[in-house]
Amino acid sequence: MPPPDISSVLTFFYHQFLVTPPLPTESCAGKTVAVTGANIGLGKESARHYVRLGTDKVILACRNVEAGREAKDDIEKSEGRAGVCEVWSLDMCDYSSLKMFVDRLKGLERLDIVLLNAGKDTNREPRV
Ligand SMILES: NC(=O)c1ccc[n+]([C@@H]2O[C@H](COP(=O)([O-])OP(=O)(O)OC[C@H]3O[C@@H](n4cnc5c(N)ncnc54)[C@H](OP(=O)(O)O)[C@@H]3O)[C@@H](O)[C@H]2O)c1
Repeated sequence: MPPPDISSVLTFFYHQFLVTPPLPTESCAGKTVAVTGANIGLGKESARHYVRLGTDKVILACRNVEAGREAKDDIEKSEGRAGVCEVWSLDMCDYSSLKMFVDRLKGLERLDIVLLNAGKDTNREPRV
């Protein structure tokens, strides 16, 4: 892989340290939101923010359901809103799990936002 050029490196640092994107503030009252990979990291914090914005139902789609329950407790406690989050099982690498998840979503009365966050940062994985 060729080394990155200096302008991309400067742009990276500029955006990492000097740019703070504004947080969405529009109310999500009445809405249903699903976030994949919501037990940790950006997915968990996004789910927390949706709860903060008043979303009626936030679905935490997690392959580790136990970790999902811990995230639900943590988010609902920090935002002071019990019973908003639901933990649904989803393994994006397992087609039957993915299909079951989508079928379950289809059964919802409404679905306003799906945040497809689950994934992994391949830069953090060891390479062979
Ligand atoms: N953080 C950054 O600076 C950054 C920068 C650019 C892009 N991104 C992207 O943003 C996303 C989230 O980043 P993050 O830093 O928050 O990552 P993270 O902390 O590693 O969290 C990734 C989430 O995705 C879940 N996940 C991974 N594979 C899955 C699968 N097969 N099925 C279901 N869930 C799965 C993980 O579940 P488990 O806990 O069960 O592993 C975890 O909940 C990733 O796609 C990443 O590539 C992040």
